[in-house]
Amino acid sequence: MAQKILIEPVTRIEGHAKVSIYLGDDGRVERALLHINEFRGFEKFCEGRMYFEMPAITPRICGICPVSHHLAAAKACDAVAGVQPPRTASLLRELMHMGQVIQSHSMHFFELAGPDILLGFDAEPAKRNIVGLVEEYPEVALKGVLLRKFGQSVIAHLGEKRVHPRFAVVGGVNSALSPASRDTILKESEERLKDVQDGIAIIKSWLEKNQDYAQAFASFPCGYMGLVREDGALELYDGRVRFIDCDGNLLEEFAPADYLDYIGEHVEPWSWLKFPFYRKFGWPDGVYRVGPLARLNVASHISTPLANKEHQEWRSLRSGKPVQATLYYHYARLVETLYAIERLQELLQDPEITSNDIVAFPDSLVGHGVGCLEAPRGTLFHDYTVDEQGRLTAVNFIVATGHNNWAMSKSVEEVAKAFVDGKNLTEGMLNRVEAAIRAYDPCLSCSTHAIGQMPLDISIYARDGSLVRRLVRG
Ligand code: MG
Ligand code: NI
Repeated sequence: MAQKILIEPVTRIEGHAKVSIYLGDDGRVERALLHINEFRGFEKFCEGRMYFEMPAITPRICGICPVSHHLAAAKACDAVAGVQPPRTASLLRELMHMGQVIQSHSMHFFELAGPDILLGFDAEPAKRNIVGLVEEYPEVALKGVLLRKFGQSVIAHLGEKRVHPRFAVVGGVNSALSPASRDTILKESEERLKDVQDGIAIIKSWLEKNQDYAQAFASFPCGYMGLVREDGALELYDGRVRFIDCDGNLLEEFAPADYLDYIGEHVEPWSWLKFPFYRKFGWPDGVYRVGPLARLNVASHISTPLANKEHQEWRSLRSGKPVQATLYYHYARLVETLYAIERLQELLQDPEITSNDIVAFPDSLVGHGVGCLEAPRGTLFHDYTVDEQGRLTAVNFIVATGHNNWAMSKSVEEVAKAFVDGKNLTEGMLNRVEAAIRAYDPCLSCSTHAIGQMPLDISIYARDGSLVRRLVRG
């Protein structure tokens, strides 16, 4: 009899989601869907607020990546006001951003993805978590804890609070960095750099040993999008948007403010989250991925020496063509963490980093502005339109998990088809489906602009639509 599997909630991801797996009469997977069904209200309820409140309001979209929203909002506000922050302010915002990348990426690798990699996809579910990891690999788990703490301390040095900082304002930031804070962060950064290198060694040897497995696990062609510098180097805070096709050919490079000319959003009835696509190719030919894997694929090189060495190896994996296997997100995430620490050191060694010239006051209004940066999970756009008083009349966000909506759904389907046998269901099979989503480190509270978390489950349905099995976890 044909069946449908439903996985709910997907665990060890940021927020919750829901998966439906449809089985044919032979017990094989015919189709699988990732549903993100949550109220989208944030864009609407920002309307009517003063634009300069947005750096304080938008971090509330998400407890996972508040810093990304905080900084993207400030950048959009700069554009709305037509003001250019002093150099030191931009350096300090980027420094805070590096703190966020370090804490977010390291938590994901060591705490969320680590249990699958180090303990195995089929390990006992009760042990396949951070607690099990601490028991089996205490020294690895400790590195994760220290890296995360380090990233958070960078945020706290600048914004007072680790989670919802108050720091970036229209035209700059509201407090300078003290030489004492600079020295404290710099001193610790050397140790943490080594921890990331150890993490890179772990994921590289795992991928080498599990080559066939990684290639069978949601490897598929698509376009890639990410910010780059003028010279094509990886950029996380402020750059141009680059699109490449599945073979690595350059399709487009444009200023973030023009994003609507290049990105369209498709709607499917089974998900509330829209599906962005590259306009020139249309839907569905224009599908693409963002985030660490995409960024390493679009970048020609990395501006810091240690991360660049890793990037050269990355490029050699497919002779310069984009890396397609979804599990390589984990590898890319750590290469970026290495870059973030090297970049943090560069920023802290800049003589202007402790300057008090940190804000430029706006004296007029342009009326419209776009802020864009590479959040840990991918490209984040904030787009504000205001009236003459500065009251918001229209707000649009496109968040990383939105860009990856198609890719996550595709990955779920690929993995379900490759690993799920409806006649002989194991927990490990369903965990692989979850791991396909988890690889993108989705931030679902962000993507639906919801406050709080949403539920997710995996259900198996028969061809006649009847529910055969349902897993609700977490
Ligand atoms: Mg939107
Ligand atoms: Ni988020």
